[in-house]
Amino acid sequence: MIIAANFKTNHTRKSTKAYLGKLNSFVAELKSDDTVLVFPPSSALDNFDLTDNISVGVQNAYPTEKGSFTGEIGLEQIEEFGLTTILIGHSERRHVLGESQDEVAKKYDFYKSCGFQIVYCIGEPKEVREEGIESVIAYNFSQLEGIDISYENLIVAYEPVWAIGTGLTASNEQIEETLALLNEKIKAPLLYGGSVKVANTKEILDIPNCEGILVGTASWDVDAFCEMVEISKKQ
Ligand code: 13P
Repeated sequence: MIIAANFKTNHTRKSTKAYLGKLNSFVAELKSDDTVLVFPPSSALDNFDLTDNISVGVQNAYPTEKGSFTGEIGLEQIEEFGLTTILIGHSERRHVLGESQDEVAKKYDFYKSCGFQIVYCIGEPKEVREEGIESVIAYNFSQLEGIDISYENLIVAYEPVWAIGTGLTASNEQIEETLALLNEKIKAPLLYGGSVKVANTKEILDIPNCEGILVGTASWDVDAFCEMVEISKKQ
Protein backbone atom coordinates (compact mmCIF):
# COMPACT_ATOMS: atom_id res chain seq x y z
CA MET A 1 0.00 0.00 0.00
CA ILE A 2 0.97 3.63 -0.49
CA ILE A 3 -0.08 6.09 2.22
CA ALA A 4 0.49 9.73 1.25
CA ALA A 5 0.05 13.04 3.08
CA ASN A 6 -0.47 16.28 1.15
CA PHE A 7 0.08 19.22 3.49
CA LYS A 8 -1.04 21.77 0.85
CA THR A 9 -0.53 25.24 2.41
CA ASN A 10 -0.24 23.94 5.97
CA HIS A 11 2.60 23.36 8.42
CA THR A 12 5.75 25.40 8.86
CA ARG A 13 9.37 24.41 8.59
CA LYS A 14 9.44 23.79 12.34
CA SER A 15 6.21 21.82 12.55
CA THR A 16 7.13 19.73 9.47
CA LYS A 17 10.37 18.70 11.16
CA ALA A 18 8.51 17.71 14.33
CA TYR A 19 5.87 15.86 12.28
CA LEU A 20 8.44 13.85 10.32
CA GLY A 21 10.38 13.03 13.47
CA LYS A 22 7.27 11.56 15.07
CA LEU A 23 6.13 9.77 11.90
CA ASN A 24 9.58 8.30 11.38
CA SER A 25 9.75 6.80 14.89
CA PHE A 26 6.21 5.48 14.54
CA VAL A 27 6.82 3.80 11.17
CA ALA A 28 10.15 2.32 12.30
CA GLU A 29 8.60 0.90 15.48
CA LEU A 30 5.57 -0.44 13.62
CA LYS A 31 7.90 -2.12 11.11
CA SER A 32 5.50 -1.08 8.37
CA ASP A 33 6.76 -1.83 4.91
CA ASP A 34 4.14 0.29 3.18
CA THR A 35 5.35 3.23 1.12
CA VAL A 36 4.75 6.45 3.06
CA LEU A 37 4.94 9.75 1.16
CA VAL A 38 4.79 13.23 2.68
CA PHE A 39 4.40 16.41 0.63
CA PRO A 40 5.21 19.45 2.81
CA PRO A 41 5.10 23.02 1.52
CA SER A 42 8.26 23.96 -0.39
CA SER A 43 9.37 26.32 2.41
CA ALA A 44 9.77 23.27 4.68
CA LEU A 45 11.88 21.12 2.33
CA ASP A 46 15.11 19.90 3.89
CA ASN A 47 17.42 16.92 4.25
CA PHE A 48 15.47 14.57 6.48
CA ASP A 49 16.95 11.43 7.95
CA LEU A 50 14.09 8.99 7.43
CA THR A 51 13.57 5.26 7.38
CA ASP A 52 13.75 3.74 3.88
CA ASN A 53 10.03 3.49 3.18
CA ILE A 54 9.25 7.14 3.96
CA SER A 55 9.88 9.70 1.23
CA VAL A 56 9.38 13.43 1.20
CA GLY A 57 8.20 14.92 -2.08
CA VAL A 58 7.37 18.31 -3.55
CA GLN A 59 3.79 19.46 -4.14
CA ASN A 60 4.73 21.31 -7.30
CA ALA A 61 7.71 22.52 -9.29
CA TYR A 62 8.35 24.27 -12.57
CA PRO A 63 9.66 22.15 -15.45
CA THR A 64 13.13 23.65 -15.41
CA GLU A 65 16.50 23.05 -13.85
CA LYS A 66 16.69 26.73 -12.89
CA GLY A 67 15.81 30.05 -14.51
CA SER A 68 13.59 33.13 -14.31
CA PHE A 69 10.24 31.87 -13.07
CA THR A 70 9.38 34.10 -10.12
CA GLY A 71 7.79 32.27 -7.26
CA GLU A 72 8.57 28.80 -8.61
CA ILE A 73 11.14 26.19 -7.68
CA GLY A 74 12.93 23.91 -10.13
CA LEU A 75 15.14 20.86 -10.18
CA GLU A 76 18.12 22.63 -8.62
CA GLN A 77 16.15 23.59 -5.50
CA ILE A 78 14.74 20.07 -5.16
CA GLU A 79 18.03 18.28 -5.77
CA GLU A 80 19.65 20.24 -2.94
CA PHE A 81 17.73 17.97 -0.60
CA GLY A 82 18.08 14.78 -2.65
CA LEU A 83 14.31 14.61 -3.20
CA THR A 84 12.99 12.61 -6.15
CA THR A 85 9.21 12.54 -5.67
CA ILE A 86 6.71 15.06 -7.06
CA LEU A 87 2.95 15.59 -7.10
CA ILE A 88 1.71 16.70 -10.53
CA GLY A 89 -1.79 17.66 -11.72
CA HIS A 90 -3.42 18.19 -8.33
CA SER A 91 -6.96 19.51 -8.71
CA GLU A 92 -6.18 22.68 -6.77
CA ARG A 93 -3.45 23.50 -9.27
CA ARG A 94 -5.72 22.68 -12.20
CA HIS A 95 -8.97 24.26 -10.97
CA VAL A 96 -7.89 26.97 -8.50
CA LEU A 97 -4.61 28.06 -10.11
CA GLY A 98 -5.66 27.38 -13.68
CA GLU A 99 -2.93 24.97 -14.78
CA SER A 100 -3.79 23.59 -18.21
CA GLN A 101 -3.38 19.98 -19.34
CA ASP A 102 -0.60 21.19 -21.61
CA GLU A 103 1.32 22.72 -18.68
CA VAL A 104 0.70 19.65 -16.55
CA ALA A 105 2.01 17.42 -19.35
CA LYS A 106 5.16 19.57 -19.71
CA LYS A 107 5.88 19.19 -15.99
CA TYR A 108 5.25 15.48 -16.24
CA ASP A 109 7.68 15.06 -19.16
CA PHE A 110 10.37 17.10 -17.46
CA TYR A 111 10.27 15.31 -14.10
CA LYS A 112 9.91 11.96 -15.85
CA SER A 113 13.11 12.73 -17.77
CA CYS A 114 14.74 13.38 -14.35
CA GLY A 115 13.60 9.92 -13.18
CA PHE A 116 11.31 11.25 -10.44
CA GLN A 117 8.61 9.19 -8.78
CA ILE A 118 5.46 11.01 -9.94
CA VAL A 119 2.14 11.00 -8.11
CA TYR A 120 -0.13 12.16 -10.90
CA CYS A 121 -3.61 13.37 -9.93
CA ILE A 122 -6.80 13.12 -11.93
CA GLY A 123 -10.44 13.61 -10.95
CA GLU A 124 -13.72 15.01 -12.20
CA PRO A 125 -15.73 17.98 -10.93
CA LYS A 126 -19.26 17.56 -9.52
CA GLU A 127 -21.14 18.42 -12.71
CA VAL A 128 -19.27 15.70 -14.60
CA ARG A 129 -20.00 13.13 -11.87
CA GLU A 130 -23.67 14.05 -12.14
CA GLU A 131 -23.63 13.21 -15.87
CA GLY A 132 -22.79 9.58 -15.08
CA ILE A 133 -19.89 7.16 -15.17
CA GLU A 134 -19.20 7.44 -18.92
CA SER A 135 -18.59 11.18 -18.60
CA VAL A 136 -16.52 10.58 -15.47
CA ILE A 137 -14.20 8.17 -17.26
CA ALA A 138 -13.96 10.34 -20.38
CA TYR A 139 -13.04 13.35 -18.21
CA ASN A 140 -10.43 11.43 -16.21
CA PHE A 141 -8.93 9.98 -19.40
CA SER A 142 -8.73 13.49 -20.88
CA GLN A 143 -6.46 14.37 -17.97
CA LEU A 144 -4.07 11.68 -19.22
CA GLU A 145 -3.54 13.49 -22.54
CA GLY A 146 0.16 13.93 -23.21
CA ILE A 147 1.06 11.74 -20.22
CA ASP A 148 3.19 8.62 -20.69
CA ILE A 149 1.19 6.26 -18.47
CA SER A 150 3.66 3.44 -19.05
CA TYR A 151 6.28 5.33 -17.01
CA GLU A 152 7.69 2.94 -14.43
CA ASN A 153 7.81 5.48 -11.58
CA LEU A 154 4.20 6.58 -11.95
CA ILE A 155 1.51 6.43 -9.27
CA VAL A 156 -1.95 7.74 -10.22
CA ALA A 157 -4.21 9.35 -7.61
CA TYR A 158 -7.92 9.45 -8.40
CA GLU A 159 -9.26 12.45 -6.50
CA PRO A 160 -12.77 13.55 -7.42
CA VAL A 161 -12.77 17.35 -7.14
CA TRP A 162 -16.13 17.39 -5.33
CA ALA A 163 -14.75 15.14 -2.59
CA ILE A 164 -11.63 17.21 -1.85
CA GLY A 165 -11.71 19.16 1.38
CA THR A 166 -15.50 18.94 1.47
CA GLY A 167 -16.00 16.09 3.94
CA LEU A 168 -17.88 14.36 1.08
CA THR A 169 -16.14 11.08 0.35
CA ALA A 170 -17.13 9.28 -2.82
CA SER A 171 -19.15 6.18 -1.95
CA ASN A 172 -17.28 2.88 -1.91
CA GLU A 173 -19.34 1.80 -4.94
CA GLN A 174 -18.37 4.96 -6.86
CA ILE A 175 -14.70 4.49 -6.00
CA GLU A 176 -14.78 0.79 -6.90
CA GLU A 177 -16.49 1.33 -10.24
CA THR A 178 -14.22 4.24 -11.19
CA LEU A 179 -10.98 2.52 -10.18
CA ALA A 180 -11.97 -0.66 -12.05
CA LEU A 181 -12.50 1.34 -15.26
CA LEU A 182 -9.33 3.40 -14.78
CA ASN A 183 -7.42 0.19 -14.15
CA GLU A 184 -8.37 -1.08 -17.62
CA LYS A 185 -6.13 1.62 -19.09
CA ILE A 186 -3.70 2.52 -16.30
CA LYS A 187 -1.32 -0.15 -15.08
CA ALA A 188 0.35 2.09 -12.48
CA PRO A 189 -0.76 1.80 -8.81
CA LEU A 190 -4.03 3.68 -8.20
CA LEU A 191 -4.66 5.72 -5.06
CA TYR A 192 -7.90 7.29 -3.89
CA GLY A 193 -8.02 10.79 -2.41
CA GLY A 194 -10.86 12.99 -1.22
CA SER A 195 -11.94 13.38 2.42
CA VAL A 196 -10.10 10.26 3.55
CA LYS A 197 -9.94 10.11 7.35
CA VAL A 198 -9.06 7.57 10.02
CA ALA A 199 -12.65 6.33 10.18
CA ASN A 200 -12.89 5.41 6.47
CA THR A 201 -9.28 4.39 5.77
CA LYS A 202 -9.85 0.64 6.17
CA GLU A 203 -12.92 0.46 3.95
CA ILE A 204 -11.22 2.50 1.22
CA LEU A 205 -8.05 0.41 1.31
CA ASP A 206 -10.27 -2.71 1.02
CA ILE A 207 -11.67 -1.56 -2.35
CA PRO A 208 -10.39 -3.66 -5.29
CA ASN A 209 -7.72 -1.88 -7.40
CA CYS A 210 -7.09 0.64 -4.62
CA GLU A 211 -3.42 0.54 -3.73
CA GLY A 212 -3.40 3.41 -1.30
CA ILE A 213 -4.66 6.82 -0.26
CA LEU A 214 -3.65 10.44 -0.80
CA VAL A 215 -4.80 12.37 2.26
CA GLY A 216 -5.15 16.12 2.69
CA THR A 217 -6.91 17.57 5.75
CA ALA A 218 -6.81 14.47 7.94
CA SER A 219 -3.08 13.99 7.36
CA TRP A 220 -2.14 17.35 8.87
CA ASP A 221 -2.45 15.84 12.31
CA VAL A 222 0.50 13.48 12.72
CA ASP A 223 -1.33 11.17 15.14
CA ALA A 224 -4.20 10.71 12.68
CA PHE A 225 -1.77 10.03 9.83
CA CYS A 226 0.15 7.49 11.96
CA GLU A 227 -3.17 5.75 12.67
CA MET A 228 -3.80 5.50 8.93
CA VAL A 229 -0.36 3.94 8.43
CA GLU A 230 -1.18 1.47 11.21
CA ILE A 231 -4.57 0.58 9.67
CA SER A 232 -2.85 -0.03 6.35
CA LYS A 233 -0.35 -2.41 7.94
CA LYS A 234 -3.21 -4.48 9.33
CA GLN A 235 -4.84 -4.86 5.90
P1 13P B 1 -8.77 16.20 1.60
O1 13P B 1 -8.28 14.91 2.24
O2 13P B 1 -8.64 17.38 2.48
O3 13P B 1 -10.13 16.01 1.02
O4 13P B 1 -7.79 16.49 0.37
C1 13P B 1 -7.49 15.49 -0.53
C2 13P B 1 -6.40 15.93 -1.41
O5 13P B 1 -6.53 16.89 -2.15
C3 13P B 1 -5.11 15.23 -1.32
O6 13P B 1 -4.26 15.59 -2.34
